Amino acid sequence: MASIVSRLSLALSLIALALAGYSIYQHTQSAMESQPIKALPAWLQLPTFQSANVLSYYPSGRKSSPAGMLSDEACVFSAVKEVVDAAIDNETRMGASLIRLFFHDCFVDGCDAGLLLNDTATFTGEQTAFGNLNSVRGFEVIEQAKQNAVAKCADTPVSCADILSIAARDSFERFSGATYTVTLGRLDARTANLTGANTQLVGPSENLTEQVRKFGIKGFNERELVALLGSHTLGFARCPVLCDNRNINPVRVPGLQCNCPVTNTDPGLVGLDPTPDTFDQRYYSDLVSGQGLLFSDQQLMNSTTTSDAVTTYRDSIDTFLADFAAAMVKMSNLPPSAGVELEIRDVCSRVNDVSVASV
Ligand SMILES: *[C@@H]1O[C@H](CO)[C@@H](O)[C@H](O)[C@H]1NC(C)=O
Ligand SMILES: *[C@@H]1O[C@H](CO)[C@@H](O)[C@H](O)[C@H]1NC(C)=O
Ligand SMILES: *[C@@H]1O[C@H](CO)[C@@H](O)[C@H](O)[C@H]1NC(C)=O
Ligand SMILES: *[C@@H]1O[C@H](CO)[C@@H](O)[C@H](O)[C@H]1NC(C)=O
Ligand SMILES: *[C@@H]1O[C@H](CO)[C@@H](O)[C@H](O)[C@H]1NC(C)=O
Repeated sequence: MASIVSRLSLALSLIALALAGYSIYQHTQSAMESQPIKALPAWLQLPTFQSANVLSYYPSGRKSSPAGMLSDEACVFSAVKEVVDAAIDNETRMGASLIRLFFHDCFVDGCDAGLLLNDTATFTGEQTAFGNLNSVRGFEVIEQAKQNAVAKCADTPVSCADILSIAARDSFERFSGATYTVTLGRLDARTANLTGANTQLVGPSENLTEQVRKFGIKGFNERELVALLGSHTLGFARCPVLCDNRNINPVRVPGLQCNCPVTNTDPGLVGLDPTPDTFDQRYYSDLVSGQGLLFSDQQLMNSTTTSDAVTTYRDSIDTFLADFAAAMVKMSNLPPSAGVELEIRDVCSRVNDVSVASV
């Protein structure tokens, strides 16, 4: 009996909370009468809406408008985070994969989600570029995050490029405990650039001069280069990459955990540092001791500017995280190429059916 009463009162208080949330929303709507009023999210108008949904739309302590209403953008942020968290819960490696997917999109003609476009019979995108083929992953997580945002925040259209930027930030936050602000408003390109992906991305066999040159074209200095390569504190390199001697630090060849030679699709993996699930300083301390895994990693010790940054980050996690976050913000603001047609894609892996004017 007591338990029925307490269940009933729990149910009543949830309904009360739901109604309170709805009335805050209504109140805010009328207080903003002079401004264009956005439609209620479709799910909030359904008779079946759950109090839990309302609570997640108005969580305490989240970014909110003065009246306490969770902003539409906050709805998008929580919809993406929900999917990213679930993907990383399922597979830790996905965190590193999402950061790399973001990097490989933004570094080629800006953050325009060009990398997310599938090849079709009449279109070749960036997914088969040297740096992407068999290695970029996480597309299905981005697609799920996009569809979650569409379902839960129907009044706030969000581009796939924005979703990718949020997902990379959420992955960083999940592993480092630190965070940074992602501003929204990116648009998705109606095209991609395979040649661009093949020439603009940095490969594991590239020397320091080449890396500095390519990052320089994107506006990053040598210290920012060293901070961004710190993403190799997470994740793995694939054996097909490591079995090619041009790509590996020669001192790491003996004892390498790959059965070289291997086929291009061999699933073997080696941690980019010995702690691939931890956003720590081990990547940098291994560079100082000559044990970087990739040839391109160890190259960071080949000039004083970059090796000074390596020792700075080895010695201070706070400096590493702050510089990494700042460089990620800069990366997330790289603009699409001039003149490219842009839109908010409905499905991240293909362009919308109807053409839109370039923005
Ligand atoms: C979970 O991760 C595995 C790889 O470890 C993958 O094959 C599977 O598709 C993932 N499941 C979900 C639901 O994402
Ligand atoms: C595609 O990439 C090439 C090589 O980097 C570059 O010259 C060209 O401007 C890019 N095209 C667009 C539309 O961004
Ligand atoms: C670095 O690589 C580029 C391109 O492969 C090459 O032209 C250059 O000579 C190399 N520089 C050094 C210092 O090895
Ligand atoms: C490393 O730096 C030295 C001199 O600083 C240079 O001679 C050498 O070519 C560099 N190696 C590579 C592979 O860039
Ligand atoms: C793009 O390719 C992926 C992987 O093959 C597939 O799951 C997805 O459905 C494709 N998207 C479209 C629009 O066909």
